[in-house]
Amino acid sequence: MQLKYISTALLSASAALAQSSGKPGYDCYPHCIASTVSNNSLSFGRHYAVLNLDLINGIVGGVENTTAGKAWIDSTANWIDAVHSQNPPPLSIFTRIYFSNSHKPEVGPDAPFAAVGGALGTAAQPETELYPAFNVHKKAGDVVLQKTRYYAGAGNALEQILSTQHIDTVVLSGIRTSGVILSTAYRLFDLDYKVYVIANNTIESPPNTPDINRNILEGILPKLPVDVITIEQAMAALERSGPAIY
Ligand SMILES: *[C@@H]1O[C@H](CO)[C@@H](O)[C@H](O)[C@H]1NC(C)=O
Ligand SMILES: *[C@@H]1O[C@H](CO)[C@@H](O)[C@H](O)[C@H]1NC(C)=O
Ligand SMILES: *[C@@H]1O[C@H](CO)[C@@H](O)[C@H](O)[C@H]1NC(C)=O
Repeated sequence: MQLKYISTALLSASAALAQSSGKPGYDCYPHCIASTVSNNSLSFGRHYAVLNLDLINGIVGGVENTTAGKAWIDSTANWIDAVHSQNPPPLSIFTRIYFSNSHKPEVGPDAPFAAVGGALGTAAQPETELYPAFNVHKKAGDVVLQKTRYYAGAGNALEQILSTQHIDTVVLSGIRTSGVILSTAYRLFDLDYKVYVIANNTIESPPNTPDINRNILEGILPKLPVDVITIEQAMAALERSGPAIY
């Protein structure tokens, strides 16, 4: 894929660095993340939504050729497809970061977020489009939202949609763990949603140390408390959940 990757802290840099340092994200390094859930009959209930956050070319490109990045892409893509195969499919919400026009009126030059996301462009630019491994099913009712800050609901109808659809539980995947995942987990926790984060479906991008990912998944999120689960638990829970109401 020939794309110009934004060279900001958001993308955090080059795939070359990722390859040489090896482990930008979560692939059981330095050890496998322990799930916070021991209940082996976990279910997401019937009013759940699946949030697939910031899976855009400009960010995914920074990890796509790393070992951890490939594992993360496979796990997340399989999850998205498994969710779509539910009958009926639950609400899936994707976010993309892009700005309304080339003036980037949402950030301008001065908003602090411009320092990390300001290099991204408009909806028409390939960097802001969803990475092709991740399938959107419009017919199943998938929603794709624009966002312009870290939080998944910044500048869009996320909260309105969750509330109108009577969602009580959200299941998060996305890139980066220290960005959209953390920010969204906090905010939706405070809004009284039951939040699950799928450990295998989150990743930190280089050159951040893998410790950041581990500390968030093992330290910060469980302390909220937000439950951190494995993809295996999430897949099994999917089968026990529903029929989804959406
Ligand atoms: C990853 O590898 C593919 C295939 O070799 C290549 O097209 C793409 O540009 C690479 N991505 C990056 C960010 O280097
Ligand atoms: C997901 O993460 C768990 C540990 O947290 C690990 O045991 C499992 O092998 C991972 N699954 C995949 C498909 O990589
Ligand atoms: C396990 O989870 C299910 C649904 O998520 C719940 O109904 C049940 O009470 C839980 N069991 C325990 C022992 O917490």
